[in-house]
Amino acid sequence: MKTNILVIGKGGREHAIVWKLSQSPRAGKILCAPGNAGTALDGANIPIDGTDPNNWDRLARTADKEGVNLVVIGPEDPLANGCADFFRGRGFKVFGPSKDAARIEASKVFAKELMRHADVPTAEFRVFDHPAAARTYIETRDYPVVVKADGLAAGKGVVVCKDTAEALQAVERIMVREEFGAKAGRHIVVEKRLDGEELSMLALVAGRTILPLPPTQDHKAVFNGDKGPNTGGMGTYCPAPAGTPELVAETETSVFVPTVHAMKRGMKDERFPFNGVLFAGLMLTNQGLRVLEYNCRFGDPETQVILMRLKTDLVDLFEAVANETLGDFEDGKLVFDPRPAVCVVMCSGGYPGKYESGKQILGLDEAAKLSDVKVFHAGTALKGDRVVTDGGRVLAVTALGDDLAAAKARAYEAVKLLSFPGAHFRTDIADKALKKK
Ligand code: AMP
Ligand code: GLY
Repeated sequence: MKTNILVIGKGGREHAIVWKLSQSPRAGKILCAPGNAGTALDGANIPIDGTDPNNWDRLARTADKEGVNLVVIGPEDPLANGCADFFRGRGFKVFGPSKDAARIEASKVFAKELMRHADVPTAEFRVFDHPAAARTYIETRDYPVVVKADGLAAGKGVVVCKDTAEALQAVERIMVREEFGAKAGRHIVVEKRLDGEELSMLALVAGRTILPLPPTQDHKAVFNGDKGPNTGGMGTYCPAPAGTPELVAETETSVFVPTVHAMKRGMKDERFPFNGVLFAGLMLTNQGLRVLEYNCRFGDPETQVILMRLKTDLVDLFEAVANETLGDFEDGKLVFDPRPAVCVVMCSGGYPGKYESGKQILGLDEAAKLSDVKVFHAGTALKGDRVVTDGGRVLAVTALGDDLAAAKARAYEAVKLLSFPGAHFRTDIADKALKKK
């Protein structure tokens, strides 16, 4: 039987999901709410912003009318607001965790307490609900710290501090001036600053089954050489050689298994089992792996490189997660293209700061002719028959190659064909792994 699917979101991650679903012989209609110019081409857009809780009722009625069987929720905000619970309550199959489980990303305090409870390796930390106590703690540390606002702050609530003065200022900004909002500023986590290489480890989770996806590395800083402010992610490659088979196995036993079991068993008489994709942001330190954070969803742009390599039918996989039959895919039934993938993100001029939208994007047809390349759309929109920019991260140009160097070369070959006024991108995606060779 064909499955009609609704994907919620409008980023590069959602385009990658829509594109991969569209390749399945089992896919019926693939709808995206609200989607972008790319999801409109590989699926069909519904002009309702599904990330806004005010629209869920209307969206559920539209989904009913369209015969949607499965709802896939991309971003963290709707998940943290209970989107999965809402659509499950309306009788849909859903890929995505409940509001309670999404706290693993939505609350840094919850995530750290869960890590402590489950004995997951992470940076030493304390939680504060008052600035005075936080200041005293910071002043008595003999190591640099990171100050984290408790709630979702569009990736901006984390301040990696170089010294005590900067940490004290971060407390001021988050708790006193409430720069990231009153709610996010009520509690903070102060933790030890760690050094090392970062790695994104994702796993599909349903019931007691955990299926790790291949290790991926993101590039968060806006400029080459990891310089400049952090962004949502400027590029990725997969598999990341830093994620050795031993490290992947260790992540499963020391991070995913205890975390998923702790969520299933619960804490303080509450249970919050996880269903969907669990993302552990790791730091590979001299002392071993440490979890920096969890996300309750696919990474962006990690998803682009992972799905570019996925051979297994994504409709089957998402349904297996939603139905808690993911165990059917254990023992090597999850198959990836052996070739590595590289994704380069092209951004609007000024991003991650202020930028303008509405710039025409040229070269999409030419880039589409390259083999082993897929140009995923992120912040794009259709204006008549033109595709224009509509966000900070605009395109996620993704390529496969026989080796990492070839994948990188192919991705940049496509980038060269694409243009819009003000476009900027990093030119060193995957170099960390290439230089080690
Ligand atoms: P988070 O939102 O917790 O992932 O933090 C965002 C980014 O801040 C991470 O990707 C790291 O680059 C950095 N970060 C978070 N925690 C630490 C830490 N304990 N030590 C060093 N860097 C960190
Ligand atoms: N690329 C990092 C994230 O999705 O949070």
